[in-house]
Amino acid sequence: MSRIKHEFVEKHLGWLSVLMILAVSIGGIVQITPLLFQSQVQEPIDGLEPYTALELEGRDIYMREGCVQCHSQMIRPFRAETERYGHYSLAGEHVWEFPFLWGSKRTGPDLARVGGRYSDEWHHVHLMNPRNVVPESNMPAFPWLDENKLTGEDTAKKMQVMKQLGVPYTEEDIAGAREAVQGKTEMEALIAYLQSLGTALSQADK
Ligand code: HEC
Repeated sequence: MSRIKHEFVEKHLGWLSVLMILAVSIGGIVQITPLLFQSQVQEPIDGLEPYTALELEGRDIYMREGCVQCHSQMIRPFRAETERYGHYSLAGEHVWEFPFLWGSKRTGPDLARVGGRYSDEWHHVHLMNPRNVVPESNMPAFPWLDENKLTGEDTAKKMQVMKQLGVPYTEEDIAGAREAVQGKTEMEALIAYLQSLGTALSQADK
């Protein structure tokens, strides 16, 4: 392109906008379209289970409390990451996540495979006040989670919505949802959720 033409585009906002949208769209289409046809990113990995009613409630608390602002759930395929956190994240581990909680900021460590790394008791002490177990921690304390109790009123509805989005909940799961969570503390729910993270990827797959 000659210099005059380039100058023309830069000086005419309408044209600049149209051409920019065109360029970005082509980039987007080239990247996104192939993914729609790859089973690797469409299908759940072997052994993936939908969140239990309690884990699903815990996930909502994770969102409400803003844990995602400080913690990612996405291990990148770099040695520095896989040595610290475990096997890199696979698309097929996240196909039933609505919305996904990959996050983009790591004030704290990645949590994609935190399930099973600590005991429930550790999480409890840590969430009550992180300084109890990690003296230099700047993570906030979440003591109210230990007092708030779940009623289970909306749990079945939430699972139904997930089912509509493609999560394979059975009628039985949904019918038992309320009973499964009623009276449990938010702390118990959140810990159940944390303990489930990244555990579907079995040894065989690694
Ligand atoms: C202001 C940022 C911030 C927020 C918000 C936050 N964290 Fe953290 N988190 C940290 C930091 C920093 C650490 C590392 C120090 C520590 O272990 O306390 C951490 C550590 C952790 C760990 C231990 C991870 C490991 O592998 O050792 C868990 C589990 C955790 N956070 C869960 C949560 C949950 C659940 C929430 C929401 C209820 C939350 N965090 C909110 C900053 C945060």
